[in-house]
Amino acid sequence: MRTLLKKGRLVLEDRVLEGDLLIEDGIIAAIGPELDGAGASETVDANGCYVFPGFIDTHTHFDLDLATTSTADNFVTGTRAALVGGTTAVLDFATQDKGMTMLDAYHKWQKKAEGSSCHYGFHMAVSEWNRERIAEIDEMIRLGITSFKMYMVYDTMRVNDGQIYDAVKRLAKKDCIIGVHCENDDIIKARVGELLAEGCTAPVYHADSRPNLVEADGVSRLMDICALAEAPAWVVHLSTKEGLAEARKARARGQEVYLETCPQYLVLEREDYLQPDGAKFVMSPPLRSKSDQKALLEGMHANEIDWVGTDHCSFTMAQKAAGRDDFSKIPNGGAGVQNRAELVYTRGVVPGYITPLQMGKLLSENAARLFGMFPKKGVLRVGSDADITVFDPHCPHTISAAANLHNCDNSPYEGYAAAGKTRDVFLSGIHAVQNGMLVREGLGRYIPRNACGRYRK
Ligand code: URP
Ligand code: ZN
Repeated sequence: MRTLLKKGRLVLEDRVLEGDLLIEDGIIAAIGPELDGAGASETVDANGCYVFPGFIDTHTHFDLDLATTSTADNFVTGTRAALVGGTTAVLDFATQDKGMTMLDAYHKWQKKAEGSSCHYGFHMAVSEWNRERIAEIDEMIRLGITSFKMYMVYDTMRVNDGQIYDAVKRLAKKDCIIGVHCENDDIIKARVGELLAEGCTAPVYHADSRPNLVEADGVSRLMDICALAEAPAWVVHLSTKEGLAEARKARARGQEVYLETCPQYLVLEREDYLQPDGAKFVMSPPLRSKSDQKALLEGMHANEIDWVGTDHCSFTMAQKAAGRDDFSKIPNGGAGVQNRAELVYTRGVVPGYITPLQMGKLLSENAARLFGMFPKKGVLRVGSDADITVFDPHCPHTISAAANLHNCDNSPYEGYAAAGKTRDVFLSGIHAVQNGMLVREGLGRYIPRNACGRYRK
């Protein structure tokens, strides 16, 4: 089957080309200023639109069980929303709970992901690091998992610095990488105790319990751990200028550092917690200040930030109400998997912080490279998978929970005026989103990933 995309602004690896792209049997068959569409069963006019390699969301939590509740979105609802927003692949955090094997977590996540509408892979989040887990690394690699995650926080997940050191060192030797949630848990606990004792129970105190230095301390510690281990560092959901400064210092002394930020740290801020539904903004790290937003956007401009993932981890307002009288009991996380591209375009490209070329790298190419999917994914190249997002830069609209496909009654971005929107999406060549409407569901496939492509080495 042949499909011709006509007259798009094709976002290639090194330039934006005004031209055509031909899809044949799920693969990109030709790219050029003007292609012959003879024999094409469908021709799509992409005039005025950017044509990107399908976006990859490096950070989702679908169907995640917490101690007291589970996320509102599962893979079926979450990946539908992802696809409509232009995301053709998600990397979700399969989670190895204490006492469980990584293999069990892998099978559990494969089951959860059945019926997905976009492609998916898994990072393996580990809650313990011991002889048994270490013995499983090779099996994980065989199954296509080459990225892992550890948390410096959350009682059920937290590991210690020695375990992080051992993990980053071992995994680097096997061409894998491990992302770390960087915050100082002991300080957070002390500050939560202080705030609650003073009667400070509202959502805004979530931010005050985890000020910028709490993250900067975690980032600085990770940089030192990785320097000692002679391993690359990957910081998930970086949110502060101080954390960015710590990563910059490490790079200046020769370290290989990968940085992820999220749309919420580019467009939302601490004052949002003061809204009547402030609980919906409770996520970790918390929302920061305008000066942090600016530092991160400038970091994107300077190619210091590697990619933007959503950290989609949705909860309904009823679930958020668990912390009505105590901010520390509000389940952490927010919905956003559908809105990433329109937020990054509006906040990044429109004011000139980044170019459309950089947007392609931040939303797709860099993740495909590091996480072992390149060049099948992450690039418009002849021979690559035809996972393609057609983005209309002139489609002003207001983001709302009602318009999102998320299985969630709230959006942290409610009322946000977005300048552009995903119009069409091709998943392995299948025209699954047409004029903003999801027309094909459940076609997502597991992506077994290769060794990490450490492009900053
Ligand atoms: O608040 C958040 N981000 N919840 C999801 C888990 C995590 O910390 O990434
Ligand atoms: Zn997360």
